[in-house]
Amino acid sequence: MSPSPLLKNRASVTHKLGYAVRNPARIAPYVKRTARDTWLRLKHPDHVAYYRAVMASDTSRNPEAAVGSRSHQRWLALGEMQFDYLVEHGLRPGHRMLDIGCGNLRAGWRFIAHLDAGNYYGIDISPDILIAAKQTLTTYELQDKLPHLTITQDLKLEFLPSAHFDVVHAHSVFSHSPIHVIDECLAHVGRILAPGGFFDFTFDRTEGTEHQVLREDFYYRTETLLRLARKHGLQARFMEDWESRPHGQSKIRVTNPA
Ligand SMILES: C[S@@+](CC[C@H](N)C(=O)[O-])C[C@H]1O[C@@H](n2cnc3c(N)ncnc32)[C@H](O)[C@@H]1O
Repeated sequence: MSPSPLLKNRASVTHKLGYAVRNPARIAPYVKRTARDTWLRLKHPDHVAYYRAVMASDTSRNPEAAVGSRSHQRWLALGEMQFDYLVEHGLRPGHRMLDIGCGNLRAGWRFIAHLDAGNYYGIDISPDILIAAKQTLTTYELQDKLPHLTITQDLKLEFLPSAHFDVVHAHSVFSHSPIHVIDECLAHVGRILAPGGFFDFTFDRTEGTEHQVLREDFYYRTETLLRLARKHGLQARFMEDWESRPHGQSKIRVTNPA
C-alpha cells in the first residue's frame, strides 16, 4: 500500500525508485531537470539567484507552465481558486493588497480587476515573469487599474509603508523557499500589515520528515511554520477551509496580535 501523500519523502531514494518504476515516461524529463538544476545551483549558490535562473529558463519556454500550470485552463482555474477564496474572506475593492511572488498574474489579474485603481502591489524575484505579468495586464486590458509591479531581491519589504496592506498574499511561493526566506518574510510582514489585516500563504505540507527536492520544492510541517510566525510576535493559524479546494498545498493565515 502506498503511504499517505502527507507522509511521503520525495527526496528519499526509495520514493524516487518507486516513482520511476510507476512513471517510466517521466524519467528522461526528471534527469534533464536534475542536470539543469545542478548546473544552475553551481552557478548561483544563493537561493534567490538560483530560483531566478530557474524561472528565467522556465518562463522562456512557457510563462503559464513556469508558475506551475500544465494548461491554460489550469492557469485560469488556479487563479480563480485564489481569488474566490480571498473574496469569500472579505477582500473588498477598497482594500490594499500585496501579492508576494505574483508571477505572471495568474490570480493577480483578477485581484487587479476587483480592487480600486492603484491598490494592487505585486512583487517577484524574476524579471522574466514580471515581463510576462505585463503581458497579462495588457491581455485583460487592466491598464487603467495602474497596479504596481516590482522586482525584489529579498523579503525585508523595507521599501513599503508601515501599516498599509489589508491583505498580503503568497501563493505557491513558500513551497519553493528554504526556511531562511520564509523566516525573513515573517520577520518583516507584521510591520506592513494594516490594523486588522492578514497575511495568507500556502505551503507544501508534510506530516513526515521535512525535505526538499532539487531546491525547487520544499515540504514543511505545519507546526514549524506556525512556530516561526509566533517567534516573530505574530498570530498564525492553519486554514482548514482551504483544504477542501482541489489544490495540493495547505494555507496558513498570519495576523498581528490585536
Ligand atoms: C509557482 S509561482 C506562483 C505565482 C503566483 N503566486 C500564482 O499563484 O500564480 C511562484 C512565484 O514566486 C516567485 N518567487 C519565488 N521565490 C520568491 C521570493 N523569495 N520572493 C518573491 N517572489 C518569489 C517566483 O519567481 C514565481 O513567480
